[in-house]
Amino acid sequence: MEPFPACQTSGQWTAHQSTSALAVYYKSLALKDVPGPFVTRYSKIPLLYQTITLNRTRYIHDLHQKYGPLVRLAPDEISLNHPPSVGPIYNYEKTHFYNAFEAYGAKNMFSTPDRAHHSGRRKHLGGEYTKQYMLKPENLTVIYDRVRQMVNNIVPDEPKDVFYLFNYLAQDVISGFFFGNQNGSHLLQGQDTEVFDAWHMRRQTFHWWAELPNFTKMLHSTGIANLIPGWADATKGEEIINDMTHKWMDNCDQEKAHLLTKLNQTGMSREEISAEVMDHMGAGHETTGTTLTFMIDHLSKNPAQQKKLHKELMTVDLNDFNAVDKLPYLHGVVLETLRLYSSIPASEPRIVPDGGVTLLDKFIPPHTVISAQPYSMHRQEEYFDRCLDFIPERWLEPTAKAKTAWMAFGKGTRGCIGQNIAMVTIKVAVSHLYKTFESMKPAVLSEKEDMDFKDYYMITPKNDTCTVVFRKAD
Ligand code: HEM
Repeated sequence: MEPFPACQTSGQWTAHQSTSALAVYYKSLALKDVPGPFVTRYSKIPLLYQTITLNRTRYIHDLHQKYGPLVRLAPDEISLNHPPSVGPIYNYEKTHFYNAFEAYGAKNMFSTPDRAHHSGRRKHLGGEYTKQYMLKPENLTVIYDRVRQMVNNIVPDEPKDVFYLFNYLAQDVISGFFFGNQNGSHLLQGQDTEVFDAWHMRRQTFHWWAELPNFTKMLHSTGIANLIPGWADATKGEEIINDMTHKWMDNCDQEKAHLLTKLNQTGMSREEISAEVMDHMGAGHETTGTTLTFMIDHLSKNPAQQKKLHKELMTVDLNDFNAVDKLPYLHGVVLETLRLYSSIPASEPRIVPDGGVTLLDKFIPPHTVISAQPYSMHRQEEYFDRCLDFIPERWLEPTAKAKTAWMAFGKGTRGCIGQNIAMVTIKVAVSHLYKTFESMKPAVLSEKEDMDFKDYYMITPKNDTCTVVFRKAD
């Protein structure tokens, strides 16, 4: 097979990154008709500050509340919160933001801006991520085996930190899927658990790498980075993840390792394969783990919804996934969780192409950075009645408007390739939990318990913990 096309960067974004005074002045004119705080005509500093202090998503949401569906965030950046206009922008090219997802010095499907490079990888791996492929018995087994291990980790009537539990589950599922059922991680069985902390250590510098890559590189090369609290840990976290990924890659039968075997057939270098693998390990576990965490926290505080789910689950054999998949209330609970607790609620930046675009009667010049954020898209009364309320029933017969606005898995050609594995894992896990147990929050919560979210692009509970008590259901 021919090697994949090499990654070509378009060079578009380098032009709009110029920061001379004259350039700032001209840029301030370009978006002057787009509403937004006056200072954002001249400076990106307010946006950078909000991003680095982990408040970006809420800040942009507040701006939309104040200024409407089109908001200027910086002299060359806007946010859009108008569902009918959002679809097309997600086929525009990605920005340099995604360089932060490179690993081993190589680009992967998620990070590459280059269309040919991206579509080559997506086509090559896409077949294994289809629902049809997921539903083959040998693939469903990967999920069912690990969900049973997860249930075995639960001791009835004792407090359980489900944030750990669901991240372990999701990591074990995605690595079992990638490397073969017996291979990859076995966190639920107490092995390789240091990788869980490593992911969380690593993300502490994520926004710096994404927003200020050259400055961050300079802080590292001069050793200053090691003096900043948490930064040495972030580097250590990255090393642990790199070593662990290589361990999983090397300790499996290269001919029978599902997705790894497919990558081995491509002629890609070891660094490129490792970068691809590591990205799927990260994207595939934190998102699913966080979704399950917020869902079980919500249900533990809402016994009536839990009871309704339990009643529905009593009508099916859990081993028949097709039947589980068709349960309407379960489906509604999952979609509603992904709406109100999107594990990636943040903007996914793209670049307006040559020629520019007109949006809501405003001309947006070429090379403007543009994005929409699920957090705001999902909180619009015009698209979701009682938009702040968790109503699984809204998905029994969803309106066309709701379908247009829902974007937990992104949109367009770069939308989530892993959504089928995520949906199947979540449904198998939740169905096993609520057919067997009921759940509630402990009477006394630890001081660390805070379900406000920490905004690292992907989110987690504020202090990376969420405690629930499971009790055998009647
Ligand atoms: C609840 C779970 C998940 C959520 C909410 C989620 C969300 C997303 C979103 C919003 C995007 C689009 C990013 C963009 O537009 O730039 C995306 C892309 C992606 N996701 Fe997921 N994801 C989930 C699970 C997974 C899983 C299980 C995998 C497994 C490998 C995965 C792998 C990827 C990859 C590789 C991409 C990049 C696709 C491309 O560029 O073509 N995700 N995901």
